[in-house]
Amino acid sequence: MANEQDLMEKIVSLAKRRGFIYPSSEIYGGINGFWDYGPLGVELKRNIKDAWWHDVVRCPAAGPDGQPIQMVGLDCSIIMNPKVWEASGHVGGFADPMSVCRECKKHFRADQLFIVAFVAFDSSAQRQGEEWGTVAEIVQIQSDPEALASGGLPREDLLKKKAEARRLIQAKLTKYATPVYFKSVIASDPVTAVSAAELSPKERKHLRLPSGREPIAGGAYVLKEYPSAWPAPPCPSCGAVGTLTEPRQFNLMFKTYVGAMEDSSSLAYLRPETAQGIFANYKNVLDTTRVKTPFGIAQIGKAFRNEINPRNFTFRSREFEQMEIEFFCHPGQADRWYEYWRDARFKWYVDHGLKSTKLRLRPHEKDELAHYARACADIEYEFPFGVSELEGVANRTDFDLAQHQKFSGRDMTYFDDETKERFIPYVIEPSGGVDRATLAFLCEAYAEDEAPDEKGAMQKRTVLRFHPRFAPIKVAVFPLVKKDGMPEKAQAIYQACAKHLAAFYDEKGAVGRRYRRQDEAGTPFCVTVDGETNENGTVTIRDRDTMQQVRIPGDNVLAYVRERLHI
Ligand code: GAP
Repeated sequence: MANEQDLMEKIVSLAKRRGFIYPSSEIYGGINGFWDYGPLGVELKRNIKDAWWHDVVRCPAAGPDGQPIQMVGLDCSIIMNPKVWEASGHVGGFADPMSVCRECKKHFRADQLFIVAFVAFDSSAQRQGEEWGTVAEIVQIQSDPEALASGGLPREDLLKKKAEARRLIQAKLTKYATPVYFKSVIASDPVTAVSAAELSPKERKHLRLPSGREPIAGGAYVLKEYPSAWPAPPCPSCGAVGTLTEPRQFNLMFKTYVGAMEDSSSLAYLRPETAQGIFANYKNVLDTTRVKTPFGIAQIGKAFRNEINPRNFTFRSREFEQMEIEFFCHPGQADRWYEYWRDARFKWYVDHGLKSTKLRLRPHEKDELAHYARACADIEYEFPFGVSELEGVANRTDFDLAQHQKFSGRDMTYFDDETKERFIPYVIEPSGGVDRATLAFLCEAYAEDEAPDEKGAMQKRTVLRFHPRFAPIKVAVFPLVKKDGMPEKAQAIYQACAKHLAAFYDEKGAVGRRYRRQDEAGTPFCVTVDGETNENGTVTIRDRDTMQQVRIPGDNVLAYVRERLHI
């Protein structure tokens, strides 16, 4: 863990130092959850978006039946009619329950405050009408308060907490001779509950419940609310008791006002996802193009969420970019298309360099699925801070179009000319985050090895081994020294390359240091014009990964780089 933290710190530091990612408005102390992409970062991010756009819109792979897939693009406004968000359910439901500690002012996702209370069962207390018995001990499970305070624990962490709770319960069974306990979470999130099915027969035997309460599935009792009769749970961060506020629903959408008046009639939202712009335009696309189901509409664009606690560098930001596909198909074909897109999107990440051992496809369990979703899988990546979601692929059924039909009064059905059938299409949605993909490719590319310095002594080298498509600079061109006509020759090669691909010219400092700087930027090739160039027109070209240098004619640099990088 320490090593991984160390690694993340190195990546964040390199990202800042080399102009990939800066904290937003840093000169004023920054603003939590907002980031700026510097000169190298903007190229990296653009390359990722361009590759995605090329691969899913302009030149999609064949579909499951071997036929070409129909895909078109869209670029919708960020602010839309607020009715869009009523129809989508975001006004009513895009909220996290939040508790605040009055003492330390930290905010917590209340559905992830995890508390186990052990209640010594006292039948006499019950006879006297005290429903809950006497609390023997309250134990709070919090392996990492910082993570807990961070607007959404990864499922992996929640599962670890469950396991921890379970071990604790087992340990307490020995401590309390006739133990009766309750497990409690301040929440209804079933993920955090130690479910009855997980309890051992021994645990179940010892479990008793207060009168009149039904156990869930014959076992553990999950409290939706923490009983007020019990001692107040301590704040997971500062430990103060009784300082946590009641959970309050906190809507994650940023609000703004359109026009001069600031009242409810002018209230609007910054979109929390790009998807709804696609649904709102689905009929426009049908009416103005020749697409027929099955077809997809893709969009890349900014999304905004007022996350309670942004964290892990750009991973959970308040302003971020999404790349989303809404794929419209006949309900009877939806399962097949869901599997197709799930596997195609997973493969896309592997094809671009994320190691398959660090990638996971995690189908959602039933209790995780949104009420309208028929299936969903997360593509997860092992970041240095843990395994977390890169992209989600969901079968959203006809939920969104049906909702927009209901709220807008517009007909959202599709008429199939061939079968004469009319239906609301089902939607398969691969929804990825550009910033998360950028971060994953940055983490994967980061490597340290050794390279000889000017005197031949081996020195530590930091190198970003980007996939060729994503490397912000494809080739850097240097004159060995700033004389003997070398800068002019190097400039000519640079200019010839820059017309076709991202190139960089550098004549400052020792050539070894220039190589090192390009290694840190992830540049696959460095070209040096030297004394021999004046004699026979050849230059050296150095490979970022092998550090091998070969001589090629200066006129061949562009062709050489293109051929090697397949671009
Ligand atoms: N239209 C479906 C949708 O928006 P989501 O799982 O909430 O689904 C999709 O978001 C993707 O957007 C995520 O897989 C993630 O890559 C990215 N994303 C979501 N919230 C984010 C945040 N706060 N910061 C950065 N990326 C985020």
